[in-house]
Amino acid sequence: MDGNGRWAQKRGLPRTEGHAAGEEALFDAVDGALELGVRWLTVYAFSTENWRRPVDEVRYLMGFNESILTRRRDELHERGVRIAFIGRRDWRVPRRLVTRMDEARELTKANKTMTLTIAFNYGGRAEIVDAVRSLVAEGVKPDDVSEKAIRRHLYDPKMPDPDLVVRTSGEYRISNFLLWELAYSELVFTDVLWPDFRREHLFEAVREYQRRDRRFGAVEP
Ligand code: FPP
Repeated sequence: MDGNGRWAQKRGLPRTEGHAAGEEALFDAVDGALELGVRWLTVYAFSTENWRRPVDEVRYLMGFNESILTRRRDELHERGVRIAFIGRRDWRVPRRLVTRMDEARELTKANKTMTLTIAFNYGGRAEIVDAVRSLVAEGVKPDDVSEKAIRRHLYDPKMPDPDLVVRTSGEYRISNFLLWELAYSELVFTDVLWPDFRREHLFEAVREYQRRDRRFGAVEP
């Protein structure tokens, strides 16, 4: 969900206003994904690197995420959305936010229409480090370390690898998002800044995805 800060700056507003405007984009994208029948949607809400931002912005983002979860969990629940989280739960994440995350997960855990995974305090490298740490803690022998074993220790082993990744705001980077899982994902880049993103942009990205030829390293028969 990139480009919130630039969207705000272009309008002479504080960066936090860009995040606030990003909420409508998120819920329109969620509705668009539901319309399409998407079963898994993952959004990058806060990265392990975002702690480097000014303290006021970090504080705002913590409160903002807490407020979205409180205000909007019921409507996601009504739509049959299961809310899940991936990321590190370290001491820097405020207790109140952790409680809201637990409540949202608990409320929606039986929903089947779509899983909305919120990557929060998430980093792809940190996820791999955490997976290796838990493998080592389990006492796994070197020969038993495999792709399957690593996958079993990712934050959500049931989450399928993404088919499509959409990066907004004209940046052509992965920025530590789902590094393990993205090995064969199709990447679509758009110049649209996140607060301007609407379901039509998602539909356009899916059309682009449908034109791609996915071979997963093999050759066409
Ligand atoms: C990146 O834009 C955006 C973020 C760090 C946060 C986005 C978060 C939301 C829209 C809320 C999500 C909440 C839930 C509960 C899912 P940026 O600040 O990097 O923009 P810039 O690149 O223009 O500076």
